[in-house]
Amino acid sequence: MSDQGKPDHSHNTGSTTGTGAPAVSDRNSLTIGADGPIVLHDVHFLEQMAHFNREKVPERLPHAKGAGAFGIFETTEDVSAYTKAALFQKGASTDMLARFSTVAGEQGSPDTWRDVRGFSLKFYTSEGNYDLVGNNTPIFFVRDPMKFPHFIRSQRRLPDSGLRDNHMQWDFWTSNPETAHQVTYLMGERGLPRTWRHMNGYGSHTYMWVNAKGEKFWVKYHFHTEQGMEFFSNEEAAAMSGNDADFHRRDLFDAIERGEHPSWILSVQVMPYEEAKTYRINPFDLTKTWPHKDYPLIRVGKMTLNRNPENFFAQIEQAAFSPGNTVPGIGLSPDKMLLGRAFAYADAQRNRIGTNFHQLPVNQPKVPVNSYMFDGHMTYHHSGNAPVYAPNSGGRSWSDETGPVADGWEADGPMVRSAYALRAEDDDFSQPGTLVREVFNDAQRAALVDTVAGGLAGGVREPVLSRAFDYWKSVDADIGARIEAKVKAIKA
Ligand code: HEM
Repeated sequence: MSDQGKPDHSHNTGSTTGTGAPAVSDRNSLTIGADGPIVLHDVHFLEQMAHFNREKVPERLPHAKGAGAFGIFETTEDVSAYTKAALFQKGASTDMLARFSTVAGEQGSPDTWRDVRGFSLKFYTSEGNYDLVGNNTPIFFVRDPMKFPHFIRSQRRLPDSGLRDNHMQWDFWTSNPETAHQVTYLMGERGLPRTWRHMNGYGSHTYMWVNAKGEKFWVKYHFHTEQGMEFFSNEEAAAMSGNDADFHRRDLFDAIERGEHPSWILSVQVMPYEEAKTYRINPFDLTKTWPHKDYPLIRVGKMTLNRNPENFFAQIEQAAFSPGNTVPGIGLSPDKMLLGRAFAYADAQRNRIGTNFHQLPVNQPKVPVNSYMFDGHMTYHHSGNAPVYAPNSGGRSWSDETGPVADGWEADGPMVRSAYALRAEDDDFSQPGTLVREVFNDAQRAALVDTVAGGLAGGVREPVLSRAFDYWKSVDADIGARIEAKVKAIKA
């Protein structure tokens, strides 16, 4: 007698093995008699077990928890004076993928913990893939890539208990005062967006644009949500973390299923190439914004997300974004962080996904590829018997530009290990001070004091605690004093 239920088999034509032959059973292993041992030649069973053990790839480090959707970017304005990139020519319409994420949490962590949010975009342009891998804030915590692994570790887990730790977080932040601007954003309402649909996105770094005449410009990207910015309070976010750890992932998926397609307007700030040399703040310092009164927003176009993934693993988990993926008309900049990132991402992806991650459908460009990268695990696209070296006499084309590069800049001087040279108005605390005093209102300032004091009272010890009071007094004397008083009151 069988102990199994009897599902409806009327439409069931069976499954196959990985090699396409009919699979005999997906429910019963092959045994010696009904109650006997399993035999080693049950190949289908062995394949199921072995493949299951390899079903996951390492999660991203950082930005492990996220989700995304496909969409379209339409260039509605003429910005050809600044860039020749095909995707930014008026009337161009480009397929794209977006992925949103938290930074510090692991795959299963709640979407609504306070954190910066990732805002990764991949444009499948007619000149190759262009990736813009930004955040929901226009700045970042540090400005030398050497500090990045240390920063991320300080936000994650203690080596002994495996717990998150406020002391470690604040130790890093207060030991690196250039974090003040981003920490002020993070402790403000942008640290708790209500949904991914209700947050802005930024390229954050300064990038280069090059027009058809070869003229160069420095640009910063701003994606403003057309849904409006909305946030959670600390209490709402904490409740949501417990009720639905996947709240942001669910919100985006469900909205698109309902036909509510979220959209963002892209604008850029443009700085003439030569002005960067003398601007009063270092325009390549990722902890600074460019005042809009100096460089107003210029509208470019609109991004709309209109299609959910059909398969999360294949299309989101295996998606590989890199700030190094540029197209003609767009370049990098002397921002040291950006230069560090130009290496980090593809290297992470070779490790996380595999050598030929760029051949997967979600990462493949929609234009022909003629690359001299060969073989390796899981080679799928290949160049047949064409020459595998360049130059060659076999008729296979190769690239051979020499001289100054179209998207380059000038650099000279001795080799040093040093922070950026300071300019007239470069300091770590002016911009966060302006954010607190001139952008935040009274209610937002009060919420900032509550959030920071709550964090500091939650396990931050001396000497970090005193350093944190000084840090906030450097941002704003009044806010710093209020934070200190509140922490002392909580601890009393
Ligand atoms: C030197 C500094 C940085 C380094 C070395 C670095 C490195 C990395 C690495 C290795 C990943 C995982 C990539 C993967 O496995 O696919 C990642 C993800 C990410 N990073 Fe960075 N990062 C840096 C700074 C930044 C900055 C400044 C931003 C934003 C302005 C940023 C935004 C992101 C985003 C959004 C993701 C998720 C990408 C995705 O959705 O797949 N990172 N980063």
